[in-house]
Amino acid sequence: MRILVTGGAGYVGGFAARYLLASGHDVVVLDNLSTGHRACVPEETLVVGDVGERAILDPLLSQHRIEAVMHFAASAYVGESVRDPRSYYRNNVANTLSLLEAMLDHDVRRLVFSSTCAVYAETEEMPLHEDSAQAPLSPYAFSKAVIERMIADFSRAYDLDYVLLRYFNAAGASSDGSHGEDHRPETHLLPLALQTVLGQREKLKVYGSDYPTPDGTCIRDYVHVEDLAQAHQLALHATTGANTVFNIGTGAGHSVLEVLRAVERVTGKPVPFEATARRPGDTPRLVASSDKIRRELGWKPRYEELDQITATAWEWHRNHPEAYGG
Ligand SMILES: NC(=O)c1ccc[n+]([C@@H]2O[C@H](COP(=O)([O-])OP(=O)(O)OC[C@H]3O[C@@H](n4cnc5c(N)ncnc54)[C@H](O)[C@@H]3O)[C@@H](O)[C@H]2O)c1
Repeated sequence: MRILVTGGAGYVGGFAARYLLASGHDVVVLDNLSTGHRACVPEETLVVGDVGERAILDPLLSQHRIEAVMHFAASAYVGESVRDPRSYYRNNVANTLSLLEAMLDHDVRRLVFSSTCAVYAETEEMPLHEDSAQAPLSPYAFSKAVIERMIADFSRAYDLDYVLLRYFNAAGASSDGSHGEDHRPETHLLPLALQTVLGQREKLKVYGSDYPTPDGTCIRDYVHVEDLAQAHQLALHATTGANTVFNIGTGAGHSVLEVLRAVERVTGKPVPFEATARRPGDTPRLVASSDKIRRELGWKPRYEELDQITATAWEWHRNHPEAYGG
């Protein structure tokens, strides 16, 4: 299939793009490199440009005779979205609207969209199912919820087939150590802990140690980025008439301190940390039920253990201390 991958020079999109290429698909990556890296994807697949620009989208969709779109491109920092909601509604909502309009105009009717567990309401009932209550708190999360709704409305009115994937915490690096996570600034726990082990950071900050969890720190569901990539491929093949949503997580929750212990086990080195105040907007526990995608698409993560995920990330950070460049 000929697939447009928006945001394919980013972390998750890069893994999906390379997975699709390895499976024999034709892939075109559209990325403005605002947070992505050229080295994430083969040079010949990359078109540098903005997903909101019809002057770029239109020729790209027609010349490459695109049949399906995987839409990863987004701004994805919760804190930044609170400080600067305008740019989040522009980049996430308005630019997705341009993309959907271009897709309809070029008769591209299959879409897989990167959504997030941040759309769910805070609740003590875990795991979260696809029909759990929603209450997106931050502008980032709300922008994703708006896009989900927009896609569903477009589907009903204009015959668009879609799958929404709500990821929990993407983590890890490629099994051959060649690609990994490199957000700038980095806000994700595992890379931050590994950078601390490498001496690139003095101490890791643990935000909140008084949550109602067994060790007082927040619990999250870490899913390996290659397992996410596999879920995208399965979702793509299932798009026709699917029009549905799947959670992607392993179903196992790990606290911040458990992640630090895994890093210490894997690297054999201590992770210096300091406990600081809670961060606004962090919920105590976010764990996925991924029963639906396992049952309906046959998805099964290769990496179920936190130590395995951590080991791949360590391999990447150890061998690429500068990640994708200085
Ligand atoms: N990383 C996670 O744990 C996680 C969890 C839930 C959802 N998501 C979602 O998954 C997607 C990918 O996340 P990521 O961690 O890979 O982020 P990322 O920042 O590494 O990737 C986003 C990519 O999109 C590109 N981009 C942004 N705006 C663009 C635009 N207007 N035009 C073209 N390219 C643009 C960036 O340059 C970057 O390469 C995002 O939509 C994010 O909201 C990620």
